Amino acid sequence: MGLLGDLFRRSKTSETSGGAPSSPLLDWMKVDIHNHILPGIDDGSPDVETSLQFLRKYHELGISTVVATSHIRHPLFPNDKGTIREAYERLESAPGRNEIPVRLLHSAEYFIDDHFLDLVMRDEVMPFGGGYVLAELSLSNRSYLDMEQIAGQLIDREFRPILAHPERYLYWSKSPEMFHRLKSYGWSLQLNLMSLAGYYGKIEQKVATTLLQEGLIDFVGTDIHRLSHFDVVRSIDKELLETLKQTYLINKLLTI
Ligand SMILES: [Fe+2]
Repeated sequence: MGLLGDLFRRSKTSETSGGAPSSPLLDWMKVDIHNHILPGIDDGSPDVETSLQFLRKYHELGISTVVATSHIRHPLFPNDKGTIREAYERLESAPGRNEIPVRLLHSAEYFIDDHFLDLVMRDEVMPFGGGYVLAELSLSNRSYLDMEQIAGQLIDREFRPILAHPERYLYWSKSPEMFHRLKSYGWSLQLNLMSLAGYYGKIEQKVATTLLQEGLIDFVGTDIHRLSHFDVVRSIDKELLETLKQTYLINKLLTI
């Protein structure tokens, strides 16, 4: 089971230390690579004031860099480089923004479909952190896409593909070999922190925990869409967060 398994076992037996000042909950993460903080362009923050609140809450949690990943999913969220850039600049130039010491970068969460593959072919994908591209699949309809070929197309163009929230694709919850296969194709896997709190459901929580225990997770992200999600993140089992903090790989592949 490896290091994570050992840590999970240790966390169950460890005693909580009393008295020591606690560091911000997510300071070990440093970077949030999945969220919907940009105002008014998808199902995330509705306006600049809410986005500023997001940034303040990130600061409280100890996160110093946020990569905004607004949805690009046609026709539901028909964003492109222009709409994302515009929302990013609106937030960056907002009154009071300079007082919040959190760095903001922008990229996207791409829905994998023909439109996305067309963007890849035309070299119009917006990566972050030296080539990372965050992509998602349908949550409800089983994907029959050739994930090996898609990873290959991205890797050939020197992108590094990350699959968002693998634990949320319930059609794979009974096919754990799929996650190993995705990794062998070149996909990194990004876990949603809220899955660990059971926010999406029991199955997602169980798959999330199993993926962590098996050392299959490369990145964690919040996938925060609204202010109440910060409370969900704060409700995650503290000992579980402590084990994440001690793992050696998660989010450390990033050079942002
Ligand atoms: Fe998302």
